[in-house]
Amino acid sequence: MKIIAIHISSMVVLLLFLTASSFAEVNYTSSAHGDNGEGVSRGDLQDNYVTGNCAHCHEQHASMDSVTHAANESLLFSATDSDVVIYSTASNFCFQCHSSAGGVENYDYSATFGSLILSGDSAVAVDSSGATQPSSILDAFNATHGHNLSDVYQYAINNPTLFPSFKAGSNSCTVCHDPHVARRNHSDPTDATLSVISLPDEHGDLFGDGDGDGLSSDGDEGSSVSERMSRWAVAPEYVAPFNEADAVDTPDYNTFCLYCHNEAVATTESYPLHFGSVSGYVLPIDWFDIAGDTGDGNQTGTYVVPGDKHGLNIATGNAAIEAPFGDPNDDSNLENDFILSCTNCHEAHGSDNDYMHRRVINGRPLGVIISGVTSALGQHCFPCHEEDSTIRPNGTMKWKDTHHGGPTASNNDNPYSVNDHSGQCDYCHGSSDQQSVDFPIACEECHYHGSYVDEFDKYSPEGIAQGVKYVTPDNSPYRRKTF
Ligand code: HEC
Ligand code: HEC
Ligand code: HEC
Ligand code: HEC
Ligand code: HEC
Ligand code: HEC
Ligand code: HEC
Ligand code: HEC
Repeated sequence: MKIIAIHISSMVVLLLFLTASSFAEVNYTSSAHGDNGEGVSRGDLQDNYVTGNCAHCHEQHASMDSVTHAANESLLFSATDSDVVIYSTASNFCFQCHSSAGGVENYDYSATFGSLILSGDSAVAVDSSGATQPSSILDAFNATHGHNLSDVYQYAINNPTLFPSFKAGSNSCTVCHDPHVARRNHSDPTDATLSVISLPDEHGDLFGDGDGDGLSSDGDEGSSVSERMSRWAVAPEYVAPFNEADAVDTPDYNTFCLYCHNEAVATTESYPLHFGSVSGYVLPIDWFDIAGDTGDGNQTGTYVVPGDKHGLNIATGNAAIEAPFGDPNDDSNLENDFILSCTNCHEAHGSDNDYMHRRVINGRPLGVIISGVTSALGQHCFPCHEEDSTIRPNGTMKWKDTHHGGPTASNNDNPYSVNDHSGQCDYCHGSSDQQSVDFPIACEECHYHGSYVDEFDKYSPEGIAQGVKYVTPDNSPYRRKTF
């Protein structure tokens, strides 16, 4: 599908002389909004315009029913305030319909794409988490942690080369979506041709639909599968987590999210700071760089830190990961060569968990809200990692065998040794008393995007100067990525 450049000046003409069906060039008729059964339809216009007609969003006269909307961007029936961060039906044009008041229901990734009960070619989405599930896009953005639409607006408007069709007054949802072509993916979550997303520099084209028409940056030129996670079919392989669509039916969210997140992005939100993070920015995500280094890192000379092991880089030795990746309790099935998708862990719009973490990961409801710098953060590692089933009184996992070694998986290449450091537990732990609430160490001291350990730890002059929080492993390799 080729992009048709349309300018606001010609829009009135287009609206008057083009019927919806002659607009098939931009795929409007097969889009969710243009569908003549399920598409756009505002109650007050139903008598005059068929379902799917452009007029349900654009008003070709300066006023309709004596209400003037002419001042709105692109003659839309409602305005968007790109500066607010607590959203209401009136604050964003799209929320006029995509809210419970507006009547269009949508669920989060955890429900629609992450909790599928697959049967044959069709799929039913169920919510199994028991946690609060947003039931509209407005609810998702108003969850505790969401993509800040004002920051998204600023990012797009300040980077015109990356966002060629975004202009002053544009709606921030249209950075990721083109409302003229987005399709009804939730009607069959295992059919990626029903994509809802467009890359910002390929507005007018769907990303993930696999039509092989790639224009510039999306890498799908001539191939039906390369916009999908199936582009990683050989090691490191993408394996769909439990109850999710197969790789071949899942858009390549890595390419999509990294369109913005391969560089630092300014944010007005505040996040828990860890080593290397900077207030006012979310850090670049290094997902594809193996830098001539598969996991362990150079053990001598300067450590050129490679990309994340959850990305293209591979695990060190073995990773004790749950099915469908492996089996943490079977030494012959500890694997180390997978690539994940951003949406395996994150929601795209928002969630009550820190960092928009999903409520349901790898088919398992987390059971708690992930918030703050805390060892409870491990609850979102648990759906995929387990070596140690011991739990704390509050019900969260201890993760002792993972780090100290233990009986469950003899082959677990644990980094630390409990007998080193003269038995001084507080060399690493926050207290020497195991009963103290300060005893467990917060996971984020060592695990986050980009994290690693090397010999310059929190006891070395170099580490102290940099403010690192990690401790060098007792067991080799001492330089390794920890995410
Ligand atoms: C779901 C609501 C919706 C429907 C239905 C819709 N549009 Fe749009 N349209 C938008 C939005 C939102 C924008 C503004 C995009 C932005 O923020 O930059 C827009 C922008 C436009 C523009 C201006 C592009 C520019 O460069 O400024 C034209 C022309 C247009 N639409 C034509 C149409 C036509 C023709 C139809 C029917 C075939 C249609 N639209 C149906 C929401 C809609
Ligand atoms: C940062 C990119 C991004 C922004 C900004 C964004 N979305 Fe999305 N949206 C996505 C992705 C990715 C998906 C597909 C995965 C999913 O449904 O969670 C999606 C899915 C959707 C869906 C379909 C959900 C379903 O049930 O299939 C709707 C509707 C939607 N978005 C509307 C919106 C609206 C309205 C806004 C603005 C208020 C918006 N989006 C802003 C990335 C974005
Ligand atoms: C006039 C009402 C209306 C407005 C305004 C509107 N939408 Fe929609 N939207 C709908 C309807 C109706 C559907 C189809 C719902 C369904 O299939 O269950 C839909 C579907 C979608 C989908 C398809 C995904 C899916 O599976 O549900 C996306 C993406 C989407 N809208 C994004 C947007 C964005 C972005 C905007 C603002 C630029 C917007 N919509 C504005 C009514 C609207
Ligand atoms: C969606 C599943 C999933 C989730 C959630 C997950 N991981 Fe992983 N993790 C994996 C997979 C799969 C690998 C193996 C990667 C590879 O093969 O390169 C891995 C590898 C690792 C490794 C490298 C192990 C080694 O031996 O080199 C570390 C460290 C790790 N994960 C930590 C975490 C932490 C900490 C969390 C929670 C904040 C977490 N993971 C959440 C799936 C997951
Ligand atoms: C295994 C689960 C997992 C996967 C897969 C994953 N993330 Fe994350 N993400 C996390 C965790 C845990 C954090 C919080 C710690 C941190 O800031 O790195 C986080 C934080 C972030 C942040 C905030 C960073 C900051 O500076 O505060 C961004 C942006 C992000 N992730 C984007 C991505 C993108 C883009 C992808 C895909 C290329 C991705 N994530 C894949 C678990 C994951
Ligand atoms: C159009 C650019 C763009 C795209 C595409 C994009 N993001 Fe973001 N993202 C941003 C901006 C801007 C921020 C900073 C504003 C904020 O903190 O919400 C951000 C912040 C984040 C954060 C930290 C904020 C939080 O609330 O936890 C995470 C995590 C994140 N993005 C994940 C993703 C994932 C996953 C995808 C793909 C589904 C994605 N992003 C796609 C622009 C983008
Ligand atoms: C070289 C670093 C290091 C030393 C020394 C160390 N530990 Fe740990 N230990 C860890 C790490 C890392 C974890 C995993 C993070 C966490 O849960 O605290 C851990 C976890 C644990 C846990 C589970 C945490 C919990 O929730 O209660 C226990 C119990 C534990 N260690 C006992 C000990 C004891 C007893 C000693 C002293 C004899 C000791 N450790 C010394 C690194 C160390
Ligand atoms: C003092 C630093 C430190 C802290 C704190 C820490 N870890 Fe680790 N963790 C490591 C190192 C080092 C590795 C080894 C990475 C590797 O396998 O190459 C590791 C490995 C892991 C792995 C991968 C195990 C595998 O199968 O290879 C998981 C999962 C994990 N940690 C989870 C956690 C969780 C959850 C917490 C918080 C409760 C935590 N860690 C706290 C340093 C730490």
